[in-house]
Amino acid sequence: MRRLRIGLVFDLAEKHRPQPGEPRDKAAELDSPETVQALQETITSLGHEVLPIGDGQDLLKFLTGGESVDLVFNIAEGLHGRSRESQVPALLELLNIPYTGADPLTLALCLDKAMFKRVLKAEGILTPEFREVLSITDAESLEFPLPAFVKPAAEGSGKGIKADCRVDNLEALRRVTLRVGTTYGWPVIVEEFLPGMELTVGIVGNDDARAIGIMQIEFLPGSGGIYSYQTKKQYLKLVDYHVPPRLSAKILKETEAAALQTYQLTGCRDFGRVDFRLDRQGRPSVLEINPLAGLNPISSDLVILSKAVGLNYKTLIGNILSAALTRTGLRNL
Ligand SMILES: Nc1ncnc2c1ncn2[C@@H]1O[C@H](COP(=O)(O)OP(=O)(O)OP(=O)(O)O)[C@@H](O)[C@H]1O
Ligand SMILES: [Mg+2]
Repeated sequence: MRRLRIGLVFDLAEKHRPQPGEPRDKAAELDSPETVQALQETITSLGHEVLPIGDGQDLLKFLTGGESVDLVFNIAEGLHGRSRESQVPALLELLNIPYTGADPLTLALCLDKAMFKRVLKAEGILTPEFREVLSITDAESLEFPLPAFVKPAAEGSGKGIKADCRVDNLEALRRVTLRVGTTYGWPVIVEEFLPGMELTVGIVGNDDARAIGIMQIEFLPGSGGIYSYQTKKQYLKLVDYHVPPRLSAKILKETEAAALQTYQLTGCRDFGRVDFRLDRQGRPSVLEINPLAGLNPISSDLVILSKAVGLNYKTLIGNILSAALTRTGLRNL
């Protein structure tokens, strides 16, 4: 295979620091220079030429300036709207440029938790019961079986998630829903609270998609038992990871099957991560899928999980790239 020209497209958190009055976790989903540098070095070491292009706007300038690449390695989370993760892939599709990861439809579907859950429910995949709360008026008269969990409808990286998102009475349910809605926008998702073990499943591939492993997130004192933005930031202190989880082979098999089914149903490509908790009956229930799972070389869940099953960062990125090259036909150039 010839050496390819691969463009890196990303959104840096440091370019979008919260302004006074904005939530402190505003840029939580965005990436660090450390991640970009690690990807650049790793893809170079896999034998390709890497161009760190920048964000979606930089990509526009790059392409309209007459430059070209064979493939974009995309980790751009986007900034505006619930379809923000789709914007770079949509631009690349417009120009017929191959890229890594899911397409615009899948990225938008999976970022909107209500839309995603409707699709899962239609196919009989277990996910917590939920309600989409559309407005302040809706929140003020809200009723829902308790305990419940309140979260933003279209955020990631634990944005907007705090320990108080678990609510045990009607007053807290309405108050937290109002807080989340006025801070992160409407709609807000109210879900059945899942009390059981938290798990995440890493997946790589396409027609040959396989679960690379399942990781248990064990909560330590101070975490509030929730994988919130704060818990994720202080993960070394607030959680322990176990691969494989301390669960029966039967539940592990069910979790893996549900993860792969969710990946395929939503049309994920090349890589992804599916988050679960066990419900009251001990059954794995899907919280969400991350088609653009974080790829920080140290702290991202998918990377931690991969290392625990013996896949180092280079092998993981190599597998993702390899899946994309096979899928797009670039491997045969
Ligand atoms: N229904 C629920 N019951 C119990 N805990 C929940 C529920 N929904 C979310 N949580 C907790 O909140 C965390 C974040 O929720 P979720 O995965 O939906 O959000 P996210 O911000 O998209 O996450 P990510 O960082 O994986 O992108 C979960 O990992 C879990 O700890
Ligand atoms: Mg999650």
